[in-house]
This record gives sequence, structure tokens and C-alpha cells, in this order.
Amino acid sequence: MKAFIFDLDGVLVFTDKYHYQGWKMIADKLGIPFDEKVNNRLRGVSRMESLEIILENYDKELTQEEKEKLAEEKNDFYRGLLGNMTPSDVADEVRSTLAELKKRGHKLAIGSSSKNTKFILEKTDLTDVFDAISDGTNIEKSKPDPEVFLKAAEFLSEEPSNCIVVEDAFSGVDAAKAGGMVAVGIGDASGYEKTDFPIKSFKELLDIEA
Ligand code: G6P
Ligand code: MG
Repeated sequence: MKAFIFDLDGVLVFTDKYHYQGWKMIADKLGIPFDEKVNNRLRGVSRMESLEIILENYDKELTQEEKEKLAEEKNDFYRGLLGNMTPSDVADEVRSTLAELKKRGHKLAIGSSSKNTKFILEKTDLTDVFDAISDGTNIEKSKPDPEVFLKAAEFLSEEPSNCIVVEDAFSGVDAAKAGGMVAVGIGDASGYEKTDFPIKSFKELLDIEA
């Protein structure tokens, strides 16, 4: 029986728009151009790496301390927005598919770079659905490094080759493949050539035979 490891943002919930608002607030403050195109590059990337991407368009050098202050400011604003999330932010299709996979005996885990993972799972009432949570708080390297997924497999006591990763980001698919796992791609990642199983809707997970 294969285990499933789910990315969070862009797969189970859609917090992209909140990340966008948070980073836009910082970019506006510094007078840096920021749009959806830059925001798309932040998918699956850690908070500090996201800031570095935004600062590519900034002509001044910032100290590490200044960067950490900006990242903290963004996160405080972002967490304020996350605070308004409710269980209704998880689609019925997502909830029922997860329940069916569990019923069939699959182990389920989270593999997300976000340090806010546990907060988001609590707000959306998803915490109890998962057998293990691997997130930004237990990793050194973010995707495309496989660490977050390898940790999830370890927490589940599963071999990586027995794990199916569900991802929306190219960097996440790369991480899954680097970890020796099967990669299912949804959203953006469904069009990525390294994806083993592209899917258009979440419930298609019930038809995957890997
Ligand atoms: C996920 C999102 C990224 C975000 C990262 C860190 O991977 O897709 O856009 O930068 O988490 O999130 P955090 O909540 O720790 O700032
Ligand atoms: Mg994602």
C-alpha cells in the first residue's frame, strides 16, 4: 500500500493570494516592482529565498538583519490573513478524497516548506487527517532538495520508493524525483515533463495505480 505525501499551498489550500499580499506590501514599501509573475516563482520556495527573489529587482544592498526584519514583517502580515481561514477553505472534493484514501488504508503525510503549516492545518481543521507532518520547521534545505519529503517518509516509517508525492510546483516535483518517489502533478505541475502522473482534479488521485 503506497503512502501519499501532500504539498500544502496550492494542493490542499490556496494561500498563494495571501503570500502575494504579504510580499506586495514589502515590495511596495521598498519601491520594488512585484506582480503575479514574480509571485509564481515563489511557489515551494522558502521564506528567505522568496525575499531574495523579490530583492533581485532592488538596487540597494541589505544586511542580513534588515532582510530578517522584512521577512518577519511579511510573515506577521501573512499570518494575520491566515487567521481568517476556516474549514470551508478546503474544497469538499479534497476532504472527501483524503477520507477515501485513508479508508483504503493509505498513510497520509504533509510535505511542505512552510513554517506556518501547522497553523494552516489547524485553521482548516485538517490536522487529524494526517499521520505525519514534515514542514519548514524540520528541514535545512527547501525544495527542490528532497529533504522535506524524505523526512515525511521517515516519519511514516515508509521507504521513499513506496511514497507518492502530490505537488503543484515544479520545484516540488523535482524534489520528489530526487527523493526516489512517484510525483503526481496538479495545477502548474500537471504540465511539467518530469511529473509521472498529471492530474486535473484532486479526486483523480483515487484512480492512480503506481
Ligand atoms: C510554501 C509556499 C511558498 C512559501 C513557503 C514558505 O512552500 O509555496 O510560497 O514561501 O511555503 O512559507 P512560510 O509560511 O514558511 O513563509
Ligand atoms: Mg505548493
